[in-house]
Amino acid sequence: MTHAFQPVLERIAQEIGALADRGRPADYIPALAAVDPGAFGMAVAELDGTVHGVGEWRRPFSAQSLTKVFTLALVLAEEGDALWEHVGREPSGNPFNSLVQLEYENGIPRNPFINAGALVVTDRLHRLTGDASGRLLRFLREESGDDRLGSDRDVAASEAEHGDRNAALAHFMASYGNITTPVPVLLREYFRQCAIEASCADLAVATGFLARHGLRADGSRLLSRSRAKQVNAVMLTCGTYDAAGEFAHRVGLPGKSGVGGGIVAVVPGTCTLCVWSPGLDARGNSVAGVAALDRFTTLTGLSVF
Ligand code: DON
Repeated sequence: MTHAFQPVLERIAQEIGALADRGRPADYIPALAAVDPGAFGMAVAELDGTVHGVGEWRRPFSAQSLTKVFTLALVLAEEGDALWEHVGREPSGNPFNSLVQLEYENGIPRNPFINAGALVVTDRLHRLTGDASGRLLRFLREESGDDRLGSDRDVAASEAEHGDRNAALAHFMASYGNITTPVPVLLREYFRQCAIEASCADLAVATGFLARHGLRADGSRLLSRSRAKQVNAVMLTCGTYDAAGEFAHRVGLPGKSGVGGGIVAVVPGTCTLCVWSPGLDARGNSVAGVAALDRFTTLTGLSVF
C-alpha cells in the first residue's frame, strides 16, 4: 500500500505551528540549551529509502539518546543474546539518568535505553570493536548515505564537563564487574556518541533496518527478523523512559527520544520517522515531537495496533 506522506507532513507542521506550549530545551548540558526552541522538522523514510520531509528536516541536530537504538542493534548483531546477561529489558519507570534501581538490582540496568543501560551497551560495543563511537558513526554514515555525519566536539566537551551523573553510573556498574572498559574511556566514547549531529532525514533513513525487519539499506542482513522485533519491542516499552506508557497510548509506535529534541519511530513493514523540536517536557521528551507523531498515527492510521 502506498501512502501520500507529503500532504500529511504539511498538515502536521501547520498544526504544530499553532501549539502554544512547546516545552524547554535541555539545559543540564549547556551546549544544548543554546538551540532555538521554535525549531521543528519531520521526515518519513519509506522502505526503499525515499524520504519526505517538512520544516527543518535537513538541519543537523544533537542526536543524543537516539544513538542508543543503533548501538543496541550493533551489539546484538555482534554478540547476540550474550548482551542480555548485562542489561535487562523492562521499563524502569524512572527518569533516564536515575541511579536508584542499580544498587538493589546488582548493577544490572533495567533496559538499554536508560543511561545506565546505554553505558553497558557502549561498553560491549567498545570491547567488540575497540572504537565504539567510530563504529557507530560508520554505521550511521553508511545507512543514511551522508558522509558528513560527525560528532560535535563542543557538545561532547559540555557533556563531559557536566557528566558527573553518568560517571557515577559507570563507576557503580564497574564495581559490580558489569563494565570493563576503563570508565574515563567509556565516558569519552559515550559522550562522543551522544554528541553525534544528524538531521531528521539522516536518522529516519538510518532507522530503516527496523522497518525492513533487520535488513540494511544495501539489502544485507544486520539483525534477524526476530532480533529486529526485539529492538522495536524495547523501543515501545522503554524508548521514552518514564513516559513510555503515555507515548504508546498516544502514538502507538516503537519510538526513541533524545534530549536534543529528536524522536525516531518505526512502522514495521512500512516506514520510519524522525521528528525534531528541541522543547522538552518534564520527562525529557520533545513536546512538539510527541504531538507530531500522535497526529501522524491518527491521520494515517499507521500504528502497530
Ligand atoms: O547521558 C546524557 O545525559 C545525554 N548525553 C543523553 C541523554 C538523553 O538523550 C536522554 N534522553 N532523553
